Amino acid sequence: MTRQNVLVTGAGQSVGRSMAEKFLARGDRVHVCDLDQRLLDGVLAANPGLRGTVCDVGDEAAVARLFDEALGWLGHVDVLVNTVGISGPRGPIEGLSFADWRATMAANLDSMFLTIRQAVPGMKRNGRGAIVNFSTGSTKTVMPFRTPYNASKAGVEGLTRTLARELGPHGIRVNAILPGAIDNQRFTNVITRIAEQSGRSVAEVEAEQLQFISMRTKIQPAEIADMVLFLCSDAARHVSGQLIGVDGNIEWES
Ligand SMILES: NC(=O)c1ccc[n+]([C@@H]2O[C@H](COP(=O)([O-])OP(=O)(O)OC[C@H]3O[C@@H](n4cnc5c(N)ncnc54)[C@H](O)[C@@H]3O)[C@@H](O)[C@H]2O)c1
Repeated sequence: MTRQNVLVTGAGQSVGRSMAEKFLARGDRVHVCDLDQRLLDGVLAANPGLRGTVCDVGDEAAVARLFDEALGWLGHVDVLVNTVGISGPRGPIEGLSFADWRATMAANLDSMFLTIRQAVPGMKRNGRGAIVNFSTGSTKTVMPFRTPYNASKAGVEGLTRTLARELGPHGIRVNAILPGAIDNQRFTNVITRIAEQSGRSVAEVEAEQLQFISMRTKIQPAEIADMVLFLCSDAARHVSGQLIGVDGNIEWES
């Protein structure tokens, strides 16, 4: 398999970290970023050869600095994985602040515009590239009370399908991953908050959430990483414009 230059955002933990480590283990050259210095330091310390930048990917100047650093040693990016996504506020639309709406859009959607815009010129020069954007299984269920999150992720899917058409003639593939309930701290936090608000146990709430997934399962970060590595490999050379669920088939959410 060809050695590739890879940039992974949000790689301080969970899926982003798992992908970065798997690309590195495969022999790729990998640059990562995260907003959280402590998490970034942890992943870099554990993975000699990996390089990284502290960066808020929703900030145009910060993304420009990220690409200065990454391209400084990579030269160009073959694979861009836009992992970053924040949960955003939860509540009825009339109670949400515009500031929270904007912050969710910045982290979840502006970020992908900014990184893709930086990565594409090099990909076009080489006549190839793979971009993977993170959406969510919740765009299928259209979960209420999470409007900024769901709207931003619907935007991610529109961005993905539009760019697959625009960039396909240049040999650049663009796909999106729609994760289900990832077995990580973030999902645990969600379950715990619902349990506290409803006066039920965490186990009860988790069992209820899994009732709405056909395979009654959470998803391990490494499973999603495996799918992304496949999408960025020669084996997937004609896979583009796809919205791929790794979720055990989410049927519904409350
Ligand atoms: N956790 C789930 O159950 C779940 C379900 C569906 C979809 N997703 C999506 O999958 C992706 C990965 O989810 P996860 O649970 O592994 O995420 P996570 O919250 O565990 O990790 C995300 C990482 O991104 C970093 N980050 C946050 N904002 C940033 C910013 N502005 N700039 C740079 N880094 C930033 C965080 O510090 C963190 O290290 C996200 O896009 C998320 O929306 C997650």
